Order: sequence, then C-alpha cells, then structure tokens
Amino acid sequence: MKTIKAVLLGSLLATSLFADGDPQLSISAGSYKFDAASGEELYKASCQACHMADGKGAQGAGFYPALGGNVRLMSTKTTTEAVVNGLRGMPSFRGYLTDEQIIEVVNYVRTNFGNKFKGTASAADIPK
Ligand code: HEC
Repeated sequence: MKTIKAVLLGSLLATSLFADGDPQLSISAGSYKFDAASGEELYKASCQACHMADGKGAQGAGFYPALGGNVRLMSTKTTTEAVVNGLRGMPSFRGYLTDEQIIEVVNYVRTNFGNKFKGTASAADIPK
C-alpha cells in the first residue's frame, strides 16, 4: 500500500508542481517557486511524496531510497547535488527551489529522520 501511494504521489507531483492556484506556489520572475521557507515545510512540499513522511523511502514498483540512516547524506555536496541536478529517477529541483530553499531542505534531511550528520550545507555546495 505504501509503495502504491509513493508511485501515485510521485507521478502526481509533476502535475501539482504546475497546478494553478496551489497555495504552495507563487510566480516569481516568470517561473514557479515554492513559497515555503523552513526545511520541514520544503520537505513536506517537495520530497515526502517519494521519500515518505518518515524519510524511510519506499520500494516496489519504484525505488525511493531512505534518507534516514543513509550515509550518502554525510556529504553536504552529494546531498545538495542530488537535489539541484536530480539523480536518475529523482527530478532536478533547479528552477523550482531557490538556492536558499535547497540549502534549507538539505540541512533538514541531514539532521532529521535519525540523521545527525556534521556540517551545514552552504552556497558553496550548489553545483554551477
Ligand atoms: C519523484 C520522486 C522524488 C522526489 C520528489 C524526490 N526524490 Fe530524492 N530520490 C528519488 C529517487 C528515485 C532517488 C534514487 C535515485 C537513484 O539512485 O537511482 C533519490 C535519491 C535522493 C538522494 C540520494 C540518496 C542516495 O542514496 O543516493 C537524496 C539526498 C535525495 N533523493 C533527496 C531528496 C530531497 C531532499 C528531495 C526534496 C527536495 C527529494 N529527494 C525529492 C526520488 C525522489
């Protein structure tokens, strides 16, 4: 059930990113951006459909890796790059989230779901 939900939400996400009148979206400089500011809000709006509310991911028809306990998040750079550029089945958030929002959500996932990774992401981690 969890998996079916993940797949459904995953495919709905693309649609909701562009939904007119969605309270989480606003138009700025001709492109859609999320309004949310806190890492938690950003996670809920843009990550949890695939990585789940508890950060444990889902597996079945698709594979959505857990973010909790995932050593790949040890690197601020690796984590930031995944969000900015996307990674195979994961969409790129460049253009949907501002650099500040990307840094917020990266710091959120690295320090929640049982994660206590050292260091904080900064503008230097955003790939060009
Ligand atoms: C549409 C589904 C989807 C959304 C939305 C999504 N991800 Fe992912 N994410 C994936 C998939 C699938 C992978 C695994 C890609 C691969 O390795 O093939 C992944 C991988 C990752 C990784 C790398 C983990 C690893 O083990 O390599 C990180 C970090 C990550 N996601 C963070 C996020 C964050 C933060 C957000 C929200 C800004 C987010 N993801 C939104 C599907 C998604």
